[in-house]
Amino acid sequence: MRVLLTGGAGYIGSHTALVLMERGHDVVVLDDFSNSSIEAVRRIEELGGRAVQLVTADLADPAAARAALEGIDFDAAIHLAGLKAVGESVAQPTRYYRVNIDSALVLLDLMHERGVTKLVFSSSATVYGDPTVSPIDESQPSGVGLTNPYGWTKAMIEQIIRDTRAARPELGAVLLRYFNPVGAHPSGRIGEDPSGIPNNLMPFIAQVAVGKRERLSVFGDAYPTPDGTGVRDYIHVMDLAEGHVAALERIEPGVEAYNLGSGTGSSVLEVVRAFEQASGRPVPYDIVPPRAGDVAEVVADPSKANERLGWSTTRSLAEACADSWRWQSTNPGGYAG
Ligand code: UFG
Repeated sequence: MRVLLTGGAGYIGSHTALVLMERGHDVVVLDDFSNSSIEAVRRIEELGGRAVQLVTADLADPAAARAALEGIDFDAAIHLAGLKAVGESVAQPTRYYRVNIDSALVLLDLMHERGVTKLVFSSSATVYGDPTVSPIDESQPSGVGLTNPYGWTKAMIEQIIRDTRAARPELGAVLLRYFNPVGAHPSGRIGEDPSGIPNNLMPFIAQVAVGKRERLSVFGDAYPTPDGTGVRDYIHVMDLAEGHVAALERIEPGVEAYNLGSGTGSSVLEVVRAFEQASGRPVPYDIVPPRAGDVAEVVADPSKANERLGWSTTRSLAEACADSWRWQSTNPGGYAG
């Protein structure tokens, strides 16, 4: 298939592009490089051994996106483009709603105009809000009582896709609810390159280990979890990328949501220890008060994806830490060098 990968130069996109290429698909990367680097595309081409068609455009701008994609055919779309920082979304709600919702609307219209019927959407476990059960399966309520605009955009786009399918029965869409993506390609050539202070745990730990930041702040140690720190389901980004390709290759008309997670929870302190082991470097930390909006435990029940997509995670947290360390230590300044 020829696959349009929106946000294809980003963290998840670059790894997904590579897995698509390895599976024999052709990749068209559309990105506006607002939070990604063209160097990532160069490295995907180097690792994949062939060219990627690159379209530089802002997908939220219908005229610009339509013009940029003029004459470029694709059989399916994987929609990853969007803003993704929870805290920033609270401070800039209109920007988050405009960029994320408009990008999805423009893509759905473009797909309709071109008769493209296959869509994979990058959703998030955040649509479950503060879950009352763990592990969580897809039958649990979603889009209820969410605590930030970023999360609401994911839930709203899921609904927009369901409504679009109702009007367009030939559309086949999968909603992939990611848990916590971590790690990097084992080559160490591509990885997560956050701008500014990392919001997420593993890139922050990696920057402490490499000496870029002094200490990690652990947000709370009095949660009802075995060691009191927050528990999450960390999924290696290569497993996540493979999940996208498995979903894409099995799309049928309809809309299906899938959890992409490992099914195993790890605490903040377990991640710290795993990273120290993988890197051989100390990760000093302080316990600080909990972060607003955080919940104690979020772990996937990935059975539906395991059974219906024939996909499951194969990489451990230790491997994710080793791969993340390889990327961080050989690219201490990210793609900028
Ligand atoms: N944490 C720290 N210190 C840090 C960063 C994080 O202790 O500096 C802790 C958090 O409190 C949490 C765990 O590490 O217990 C993981 O935090 P992340 O920020 O890495 O991930 P979250 O689970 O908070 O967020 C992720 C995604 C979001 C998504 C959210 C809910 O990054 O996009 O899951 O599904 F919205």
